This record gives sequence, structure tokens and C-alpha cells, in this order.
Amino acid sequence: MKELRAKLNDIAKRRGIFWNSYDIYGGVGGFYDYGPVGSLMKKNLLDIWLEEFVYKDGLFLIDAPAIGPEIVYRASGHLEKFTDYMVRCKSCGHAFRTDELIKDYVEFPDALSPEEIEKVIREHGIVCPDCGGALGEVEEFHLMFSTRIGLDKIGFLRPETAQGIFVNFPTLYRINREKLPMGVAQIGRGYRNEISPRQGVIRQREFQMAEIELFVDPEDKFNEDMIEDYSLPLLTMNGENIKISAKEAYKSGLVNGYILYYMVKIMKFMERIGVDTSKVRFRQHHREELAHYSKDTWDCEVLISRGWVEVLGISYRGAYDLEHHMRYSGVDMRAFRKFKEPKKVRRSRVIPRMEILGPMFKGNAMKIAQQMEEIEIEGEKKELKIEVNGKTYEVPPEAYDVVDEEVTLSGERFIPHVVEPSFGIDRILYSILEHSFYEREDSGYKVLRIKPEIAAIKAGVFPLMAKEGMDSKAREIMKILRERGINAYYDESGSIGRRYARADEIGVPFCITVDYQTLKDSTVTIRERDSTEQKRISITDLPDTLDSLIKGKLEFSEI
Ligand code: ATP
Ligand code: GLY
Repeated sequence: MKELRAKLNDIAKRRGIFWNSYDIYGGVGGFYDYGPVGSLMKKNLLDIWLEEFVYKDGLFLIDAPAIGPEIVYRASGHLEKFTDYMVRCKSCGHAFRTDELIKDYVEFPDALSPEEIEKVIREHGIVCPDCGGALGEVEEFHLMFSTRIGLDKIGFLRPETAQGIFVNFPTLYRINREKLPMGVAQIGRGYRNEISPRQGVIRQREFQMAEIELFVDPEDKFNEDMIEDYSLPLLTMNGENIKISAKEAYKSGLVNGYILYYMVKIMKFMERIGVDTSKVRFRQHHREELAHYSKDTWDCEVLISRGWVEVLGISYRGAYDLEHHMRYSGVDMRAFRKFKEPKKVRRSRVIPRMEILGPMFKGNAMKIAQQMEEIEIEGEKKELKIEVNGKTYEVPPEAYDVVDEEVTLSGERFIPHVVEPSFGIDRILYSILEHSFYEREDSGYKVLRIKPEIAAIKAGVFPLMAKEGMDSKAREIMKILRERGINAYYDESGSIGRRYARADEIGVPFCITVDYQTLKDSTVTIRERDSTEQKRISITDLPDTLDSLIKGKLEFSEI
């Protein structure tokens, strides 16, 4: 297994997929550069993601900043709770995530308290994996990168892109003409100061996320027809491994409908991008393991050489985020639900007295007044506690009047709930690479059997020999393909066999060869990477044929 990683890492660096960043200075842990091949693979993967999850479902896509002010992450709970546990080796000083150290001994390593972790370390005699030294005490380590905004304002790099969506909920809801469900997606980097990352692109300190926040009315009845019948591999929080149809899982109440909807979409996405779906499962989080904002989480895990690795998580975040941002910003983050019939109700409404609130609360008076208007008074007038920007203000009874009135309400305000599929693009791409790597039985040549849609370069164009006009013809064909939007390259060096092998190694799906016959009848051979079969077609038909092959609209055998 280590050998597979070594071979892949060798190709990755030698051929321009990815490598450790800042190499000339010895590299910095947890940072990776994607090279000329890898960055195109990643882009192609993101394009498919957009197609499957954004365009097909009519979601919004937004692009918010990576740096946010402190208040955002105070409100989201990350400032207080976004931590991992770690231990340091008393001899060499190296630090380790405790969940990594104890994962072979306990079922839910993320669910333990520091005391419980220490007990596991003691009972199993776990020592430093690097030098065998004794381990120190369990410490809590904060994962957010902090920075400064301007001269003296504290800012943080986002640990998830999600908050950029939540803080924009009122604007997006208006743009959506106040309708739910509303899905909003964002593609962007996430930043986490991971404790001693050593797993390549699987665990980076800056990584590529693609997230969706689906805002729903929790009182809306879920439309069962949204769930397709698809057999899902689930590992429940009770440790049960089951294969269950998505419809059955919904009927039995095991999984939330929207989460199931996404599970099915994700399985199909995995199929399309070339992740081996027999090595995919959804694992439910143990209650103690849930992130601070989550009520239920199912991780999509993929089996690679490092075992089962989470590549994305689907969480039911409920009203947590919008509720917190509403409390901290004082801005109404609610949606409106219309009643079937208007309702007549009696209520005691608060009328703020601005002449008192103004001098008392200055710049915050308007926000305080807005919140007061939402309050219904029962019984005697009393001091009100109003929260704005994370601070509580005490409003005395003389600062408002109360009127008793009968009103007709057409609906009510409520905080939408959120279902969130959060994709880690680096881990998905890495899974594709591992699942598609093999060595040819006869020659031992290495091949990446990646889907043509994901491949960085779609075609190599080779002259049989770089002479007698075959070279200029090949260059001409390369140009035609590039004009057509097909990323092609020209290669004349070494034997044809070597050129095929070089192409296979980075997953180029098709190679075109210009030979003596080309000069006579304007045909070329087209070779398919996996079968190594060749067909002869006319140059005129080549661009259309290749385009259909790449998009999966034509099988090679159909040519
Ligand atoms: P882990 O337990 O592995 O640290 P996580 O549960 O903290 O992951 P999430 O917070 O659910 O991860 O993040 C969503 C997705 O982002 C993950 O499923 C993963 O694919 C990706 N991801 C998270 N942290 C990293 C990282 N350090 N490097 C690369 N991808 C990451
Ligand atoms: N947005 C989900 C996460 O980062 O965990």
C-alpha cells in the first residue's frame, strides 16, 4: 500500500500533478502545489461538480472572501470550538493528533474527552511514532489561522466556506424572491492549521472545498419522489454495516430525506468521475463526534491505501448558524412562511420610544428598536434584554409603550434549517488517482485509467517519425484539436511505444498517430489508453469523434 503511494507520488512530482510547496526551501508541511497536469484535473473535476450539483439543481453559486472578521467566527462558534486534541513527544517534541494515535484502539476516536484519550494512551502503551519516546499531556489546539485586517482588526482565514453563505442569507433569500428551499453553493479554499499533517494532499493546511448550503423550511413536507431508488452502503452510528435502498432508508426514518437525496447524487457523481463505488460508504457520526453545529452527519468515506478516508460530509446543521448570526449581528435572518388562511390574533405590541433609546444606546439604538418590535409582551411591562452584535443590552420599561391590538397575520417568520454537503476536492481527486492507477502486465508501464472528462490532456498527437512531412501534419492536427477546445499536445521524441507510455502515465485517454498512410489518404490512427486498441479514421472526422469520446457520448468500440 505504501508502495502504491510511493509510485503515485513519484508520478505526481515528475509529471506535474502535485508536489510539496516551497520545495526549494525544504518544503512546508500541509501545503501542496498542483502542477500543469494536476491543476487541470482539479478544474475538470470542479466543472463536473458544478454541472451535477449546481446547474442540474438550479442552485445559486456565490464567491465570498476567504478572510473574515472575528465577529463572524465568534458567532459561528468556530472561535470557541474549532479545535483538535494533540500530544507532544517528550523526547523529540513532535506533535500528533490524538485521534490518529488512538484510532486503532477505539471505535470513535473523535468522541473522547482529553481524560479518556489519556487513558487509552496509557492502557495501550502508545508512544511517539517517530522516536518511541513518552507522550505528554493531551492539549487542545485551535485550528484557525488568524491574521490582521488593516492595522488592528483581528481576522481569520475561513476554516469552511459555509459562513460566507450564511452571512449572506437575507440578500440571497431576497434574490430568490423569498422562496425555499434555496440551495447556495460555493467553491473556494479552506484553511486549517492542522497539527503536523503527514498524509500528502489528504491533509493540507490550505485545501479546496466545494460546499452547498440547502436552506429548507423544517415544516415543509419532504417530497419523497426526490429520492431515487439506489442501493446505498451505510455504516450507522451503532457500527452496523448495511446495504439499503435509499427509499427504504427514508421510510424507516434512518436518514433525513435531503441527506438521502444527496447520498444518491454523490454515488452517481463518484461513478461519473471514476471513483470505484464498491469502495465508497456513508458513515454516520457518533453523537459525541458531531461538530458543534451539527445535529446529524454522514461522512462519505472512500477506501484508499490509507484505509477509509472521509472525502466529504453531509450535515444537518438545523437553525444553528442563522440563529447565531441573527443574535450576533442583530439582523433578521428569518424567512417567511405563509399561512394557508390568514389568522386573526390579539397581541401586545412593543412601540419603542426612540427619544429615550437614542441617547441611551446611540449607534445601536435602531438595531435594538428593530428587535424590540418583534417582542410580544405578556403581563406587566418589564426590563427587556436585547442582544446585538453579541452583546446584551438592558432596555428599561419606560423606553417603550405597549399597545394591545387585534391583527390579521398572513404568515410567520422562522429560521430556516440547513442541510450541508461539504466536499473536499483534494481528497476526491486523490481517490480517483489511487483507484485508477495500475501497471501493465506485459511491460510494467504505469497507467492512470482516469475518465477522459477528468484527464488534463485529452490527446497526444505523434508523428511516426519526425520527417517527410509527418511532423508538420501532426502539428497541424494538434492545432485543429486545440482550436476545437480539446487540450492536445505534440510529441515526437523517442519510440512510439515510449510516447504512448508517457501519455498513459498521466492518463491521456487518446493518442493520434500520423504515419505514411496519412500522407496518402488523410487518415490517422487513434489509440485508446486502456485497451491499447487502435482505429483508423479520417482527419476530418477526428475532432467530432474525439469530442464525443471525451464526453462519453461515444464508445471507442463504436468507431
Ligand atoms: P478530518 O476529520 O479528516 O479532519 P473533518 O471532519 O474535519 O475532516 P470537514 O470539517 O467535514 O472535515 O470538512 C469537509 C471536507 O473537507 C472533508 O470531508 C475533507 O474532504 C475536506 N478536508 C477537511 N480538512 C481537510 C484537510 N486538512 N486537507 C484536505 N481536505 C480536508
Ligand atoms: N462546512 C463543513 C465543515 O467544514 O466541516
